[in-house]
Amino acid sequence: MKIIHKIGELKSIVKSLNKTIGLVPTMGALHLGHASLIKKSVEENDFTIVSVFVNPVQFGINEDFDKYPRTLEKDAKLCEELGADIVFAPSADEMYQDTKELTLVCPPYSAINKLCGKSRPGHFDGVATVVSKLFNISKCERAYFGQKDAQQLFIIKKMVKDLNFDVEIVPCPIVRESDGLALSSRNSYLDEKARQEGLKLSKALNYAKELWQKGIKDRQVLCDSALKIMEGLDVDYVEIVNPETFEDWVETDKNALMLVAAKIPPTNTRLIDNLEL
Ligand code: PAF
Repeated sequence: MKIIHKIGELKSIVKSLNKTIGLVPTMGALHLGHASLIKKSVEENDFTIVSVFVNPVQFGINEDFDKYPRTLEKDAKLCEELGADIVFAPSADEMYQDTKELTLVCPPYSAINKLCGKSRPGHFDGVATVVSKLFNISKCERAYFGQKDAQQLFIIKKMVKDLNFDVEIVPCPIVRESDGLALSSRNSYLDEKARQEGLKLSKALNYAKELWQKGIKDRQVLCDSALKIMEGLDVDYVEIVNPETFEDWVETDKNALMLVAAKIPPTNTRLIDNLEL
């Protein structure tokens, strides 16, 4: 397995490959959730590229760009064990020659003016931009994304359709610890006490699902019940959407996806999670 830092080098490798290429875009600090994406790509493609890039353009000024965990050596070892062919780890200067005059890919307002997009202005422009660049650089046929970032997945699927990218987006299920905590690179910010608080997200979702299965379909009741379990957290949102459209769920919709986001005091770590009800 090779670690490549330069766009030109990766482009010239993929140009002469003549193989199906799977891309797993990541920001590194890989965990078993990422491992499941890499494994799937290795199974489904002749050649797997894992990108490891902490993308400055998707972080707000008061967010955790500087402290985001960077563990390239460990990440590369895991990628190699899982059978990836290339780790693409460019520097920010390599990816963004000119950040002041950057052309951005901007998802529609209706898709970003809710949930994570509402509290993280500019975030999804940064995600859509870097993912477009990675698609163009890697010439991938398939790209693998975790369902934990449900709004991101929705936006990327829409971008691929709207901009006619020849890339199949493969959604992969959330991987959880045995007690329900969804795996996230940001879990490394949590000490044991904060981790227990973080568990309230999955507990809230599971409780709402229990109510749903008992026949309670009132969005207010479901959201309030989840909120009650999340007491003590700095809750950003508890919402229920139609998973196909990401519009607010209404009673005539067949499927419902509940999404939650909260900061975990005192660490200020922002966690997200979701569950189909
Ligand atoms: O989900 C992530 O880790 C990032 O948002 C992504 C898709 C790698 C883009 O930087």
